Amino acid sequence: MITITNDFVHLATKNNSYLLHINKYGDLENLHYGCKINSADFHLLLRRRSFIVNTLFAKDDMTYCIDGINFEYSFPFRGDSGSCACHVADDECGMADFVVSKVFKAPQTEQDMPVPSGGESVCIELADKIRDGLTLQLWYVVYEELDVICRYVKIINKTEMDVKLSKVMSAQYDMPKGDKKAVIFDGAWGRERAKKVVPIIGAIAAGSFSGMSSAECSPFFMVEDASATQCSGNVYCFNLMYSGSHEISVECTPYDSIRVLHGVQSDAFNYVVNSGESFVTPVSVSTFSDKGEGTASVNMQKFAGDIVIPKKHIPIMLNSWESVYFDLNEAKLQEFAAKAKSLGFDGVVVDDGWFIGRDDDTTSLGDWFEDRRKFPHGIKAYADYLHSMDMAFGIWIEPEMVSERSQLYKAHPDWALKCKNAREIVGRNQLILDLTKPEVADYVYEALQRLVTEYGADYIKWDFNRRFADVPRGEGSEYFYKYYRALYQILRKFTANYPDVILENCASGGGRFDLGMMSYAPIGWVSDNTDPLSRAEIQQGTSYGFPIRAMLNHISASPSHQTKRATNFDARKNTAFIGSFGAQYDVTKISDSECEQIKNAICEYKALQPIIQNASLYRLSDNENYVVWQVDSGDVGLVYIMQKRFYTVSSLPGIRLIHLDENATYMLQFDNFKFEASGLTLQNYGVPLPMNYQGCGDGAINLTDMSTILIKFQKI
Ligand code: DGJ
Repeated sequence: MITITNDFVHLATKNNSYLLHINKYGDLENLHYGCKINSADFHLLLRRRSFIVNTLFAKDDMTYCIDGINFEYSFPFRGDSGSCACHVADDECGMADFVVSKVFKAPQTEQDMPVPSGGESVCIELADKIRDGLTLQLWYVVYEELDVICRYVKIINKTEMDVKLSKVMSAQYDMPKGDKKAVIFDGAWGRERAKKVVPIIGAIAAGSFSGMSSAECSPFFMVEDASATQCSGNVYCFNLMYSGSHEISVECTPYDSIRVLHGVQSDAFNYVVNSGESFVTPVSVSTFSDKGEGTASVNMQKFAGDIVIPKKHIPIMLNSWESVYFDLNEAKLQEFAAKAKSLGFDGVVVDDGWFIGRDDDTTSLGDWFEDRRKFPHGIKAYADYLHSMDMAFGIWIEPEMVSERSQLYKAHPDWALKCKNAREIVGRNQLILDLTKPEVADYVYEALQRLVTEYGADYIKWDFNRRFADVPRGEGSEYFYKYYRALYQILRKFTANYPDVILENCASGGGRFDLGMMSYAPIGWVSDNTDPLSRAEIQQGTSYGFPIRAMLNHISASPSHQTKRATNFDARKNTAFIGSFGAQYDVTKISDSECEQIKNAICEYKALQPIIQNASLYRLSDNENYVVWQVDSGDVGLVYIMQKRFYTVSSLPGIRLIHLDENATYMLQFDNFKFEASGLTLQNYGVPLPMNYQGCGDGAINLTDMSTILIKFQKI
C-alpha cells in the first residue's frame, strides 16, 4: 500500500516499510527500508541527522549536512561525497539541481524498457532548478503481497536544449552500514552465476560491459548482514529488468552508510535527450527479508514467476544440437521425431544448421531461409510431420546476427556493427546487426514472423552467440541501451502478434538470463553445460534470483560434451528435473534400456511438472559437498540432494525441511522408499534417510560420487 501523508511517502508491503521524506529543501530522503515501522513514529526517524564538521550543509541550517542524509537519488556537485546516481549536463552547465515538485499516484503505462504489470504505483517528480522544463520522475511500483518494490527513473526534457546523461542509474539505496557483505553472481560461459561473497570494504564495482547481461555477472545481487545465512539475517535482493551491460556498485561512505547503485552501465555512457524527448531507465527490482537469503530470494523468484515471466505450459522438447550439431537433415530429423514421439516427448527443436548453406559456424547467419539440400520437402513439411503426430515444432534462430559469408551481408554490409578502420574483433565468425536501424529491425521481425507463418513453428529458440565489440560512429555505451530498446520493441510486437508461440531465450548458454528477456520468453537456457555436477552449481546460483520454472534444463549424453565427465542417468535426470525439462542427445542411437530410462523419466516429469512449474526453491545446505534443495509448492514438494563426492565414513548433512505444517503428517517417497513423518520432525530433526556408506546392507541408500536423490513429499 502506498500512503502519502504530509511530507512522507510510505511504501508498505506485507512485511516491509520503505519510507521517503520530502524535506524542507525539497530533497528526497530515504529514512528506512526494512521491516515494518509504525506511521505514528515516522517523524522520529528525522532525528538521526547530525552535524559533521567540514562537510557541506544548508546555508540556513547547520544541522542539514549533505553527507548526513540518506538521499533517495543523488546528483554530483551538490556536496554529497558518495558516487552519484545520475549526472545531467548541457553545453552551458555541467550539473542539475533537482527538487521535488509533485507526488502523484498513477497506473503504469508501456515504456521503452520492459515494465512489470500490476502493482500500485506512485511517481515522485523532481524539477531542475537550473533548467525550466527538465523533470526527473522517480517511479515506484509496489507489490504488497510479494514484498517487492520496483523502481525506475524517467527524464523528460521539455527545455529548448538537448541534455546529456553520462550516468543514470535505475535506483539508489542508501542504508545504514552496520556489518554487511555483498553477494554477486559471476562466472563465464559454462559456469554462469556462481555465488561470490564480497566483504564491503571501500567500494565494490561489478557488472557487465559486454553488451550482454549475465554470463560474467548477473544483474541479480544481494546486500546482507555479514552473518546472514539461508534462514536468518537481513537480506536485500536486487535485480534489473535489462539485458545489456549493467552496473552494480556498493560503496561505504565515510559516514557509516552504504550506497547501492544499480542500473545501465555508465562506463563510456553518453546519452543525449533531445529537446522534446524523454529517457527511461530499466526497472530495478528490490525485496527485503529479515529471515535470511532463502525468504528474500524466494520473494524474488515469486515476483519473476508471478509478474514478469509469461505463464505458458512448456512442452518437453528434444533438441537436435548435441546429437547432430550442424549435420542435420530431413531424414535424420524424421527418425528423431518418430523416436521422440515413442518416448513421450512433446516436440522437437531443430537447432542451428537448417538454413541456406549453414554447414558450420562460418557462414549464413541472416539468411533465414530453409536449405533445400537438407530439407528437400521444405521445413514446413517437417513441421507438418510433427503436427501430424500431435507434436510441437521448435526451430532455432539467431536473429540479431549476420555472417560475413551470407547473402544478407553481401546485400547490406552497412547493417552490421563494424567500426571503419578499427581492428576487426570477431566472435564465432559473426557480426551483430544494428537493430537501431528501422530497416534492420523490420528484416529481423519478418524473419521471425516467417518461422511461424511459413514454417509452422510453435516454439522458437532465440540465440545470441557473441558479445558486442564495435559500436557505431559517434556512440558510446549508450548504444547498447538504444540497441536493447529496439530489441524489446521487436519482442513486444512479436509476442503480441504470436502469443501462442513459446520463446526460449538463449545466449551462448545463459549469457542473457535476465528479467528483460524473461519479460517475453517464459524459459531460458541456463547454460550450455549440462554435466550434472556443474549444472547443479549453476542452477543453485541461478535460483537466488530466478524461479525454477524459467530454467530450461536438458538431460544430455554421458560423458558430458562440455566437461567430458561421465555421470549416471539419475544424476542427469534429477538435476534436469528441477526446472523446465527437455533433452538433447541422439535418442536414435541409444540402447533399449536407455530408451526405457528416458521414457520413464518423461512420465515421471509429467507427473511432477505441476509441482515444479509453481514452486519456490530453498537451498537447505551450505555444505560444499552437497547441493540440497527444497522445491516447495504448498502441501507438496520435492527434496533434491546431490552428493558431489563420496568420502568414506562420512555422513549426509542434516536435511531439515522448512515451511511445513508442524501438526501435519507428510508422506515421503523416492525409488522404493516410502515413509510417513510429521512436519515437526521433518523441520526439527530432518529427513530420516536410511543411509549406507559401505555399499552393503538391505534397502539402504548408497550414495557415490555425483549421486542424487529426489524425494517427493506430500501432506496427508
Ligand atoms: C549456443 C547455444 O547455447 C547452443 O545450445 C546451440 O543452440 C548453439 N548456440 C547453436 O549454434
